Amino acid sequence: MATTTNPNAQLVTVSSIGINSYAPRQPFIDFHNRHERWAVLVCHRRAGKTVACVAELVLSALFTTKKDARYAYVCPQYNQAKDVAWMYIKRLTADIPGIAYNESELRADFPNGARIRLYGADNPDRLRGLYLDGIIMDEFADMRSSVWGEVVRPMLADRKGWAVFIGTPKGHNEFYDAYEYAVTSPAWFSLMLKASTSGLIEPEELEDARRGMTDDQYAQEFECSFEAAIAGAYYSKDIVAEQITSVEYDPQLPVYTAWDIGYSDDTAIWFYQITSGEIHVIDYYAANGYGVEHYADMLDSKSYNYARMGNKPFLWLPHDARAKTFASGGKSSQEQFMARGYSSRITPELSLQDGIQALRMALPRMWFDREKCKDGIEALKLYRREWDSDKRIFRDRPLHDWTSHAADAARYMALSWRELAPEPVKKEPNWAIQGNNGRIMTATLDELWASSPKRNGRI
Ligand SMILES: Nc1ncnc2c1ncn2[C@@H]1O[C@H](COP(=O)(O)OP(=O)(O)OP(=O)(O)O)[C@@H](O)[C@H]1O
Ligand SMILES: [Mg+2]
Repeated sequence: MATTTNPNAQLVTVSSIGINSYAPRQPFIDFHNRHERWAVLVCHRRAGKTVACVAELVLSALFTTKKDARYAYVCPQYNQAKDVAWMYIKRLTADIPGIAYNESELRADFPNGARIRLYGADNPDRLRGLYLDGIIMDEFADMRSSVWGEVVRPMLADRKGWAVFIGTPKGHNEFYDAYEYAVTSPAWFSLMLKASTSGLIEPEELEDARRGMTDDQYAQEFECSFEAAIAGAYYSKDIVAEQITSVEYDPQLPVYTAWDIGYSDDTAIWFYQITSGEIHVIDYYAANGYGVEHYADMLDSKSYNYARMGNKPFLWLPHDARAKTFASGGKSSQEQFMARGYSSRITPELSLQDGIQALRMALPRMWFDREKCKDGIEALKLYRREWDSDKRIFRDRPLHDWTSHAADAARYMALSWRELAPEPVKKEPNWAIQGNNGRIMTATLDELWASSPKRNGRI
């Protein structure tokens, strides 16, 4: 087998070492030959970015001189990795003598000890604890960005691994920031490939695609516009930049929490305070794979002045918190929180569409803390309808992905805020939402709305 550390030599020797199935498309040759440790590729749909990046992993694994080198390919959902990238990996490595595949782990083991494994950002915990020599983050704009900072980046530290972020734009999120940074930083390689200039897709094919898309969709997907409105997004137009700012926690006011509890996927929690009809969203927390104990510990550790009911810290739980689960010995989440000293009520039930409308109405009164709510805001902006590619229309239901949980919990936040009317207090003598300082919320919803200052950017 050819061994070389000169990346420039890789492409010329590819066919001599058996990757006959790969000839790079012209725009990606500079990418394969780059020397920068970090790279961002913003490329139109069907440009061949996934193939190029999978080939990059294969080339790196083949030519590495590192012992037991480890490479990873991550895309937003594990199933996507399985459906697309795994096929590309097998195709590009089929001719390598001694290559071995582990189908259940989506892993290719190279004869020199190197490995490539596929992951989904929907379960980043699988990655934890490994070191990595190189990683591809595919469709990075569709991932929660904390996967990079909290999980992936530390894994590259030991062996000075490299990373490549690829995808099409989805508004001004972390992918945009990465690209903006990359174009001016010498430590980064960057490439933007628009369909109008790449020459990779026939003009008739592009025209056909354009006919089936909105202008925003086309601009985003084929012209790599970070400015286009996110296609099908529910809330992105309702959240304006001034609302994402520094929002101080006020210890004099009670802190409410609105929850979406995931059993097999994420649990999402918004922390908020209400003052003068404004909703100050001070914190956000999401995790998966944990039980009630974990979340109760997390709440305890944050030591906020939680709203209280019957003198116990109070939570707004989703309706399925009443369901009893086998895993927890037949107890519901609500009962388990009660055992940990937390009181709760179930968020009012409204149809999904009405809930979305309620959140839209509440959003102009919401202020989000930029740092603590980062992941949640990103999810809210990205939460969008499913696209029916056959009929070329948006379905009337949301796409279920990592953004759903933050969006559901935000819906519950909007609905429970509406519940801060005096009626429940009258019906339940026990009921009192108050801070440790004894302040009680007594305003009706109408009063809250009437007294609400309009959005004025004053935080
Ligand atoms: N170097 C190449 N040689 C031959 N075919 C290629 C090459 N690169 C990509 N293709 C083909 O082009 C198509 C698109 O490739 P790929 O999936 O990599 O695109 P993409 O930019 O990731 O698209 P999407 O935006 O849909 O994820 C596939 O059918 C793939 O097999
Ligand atoms: Mg792709």
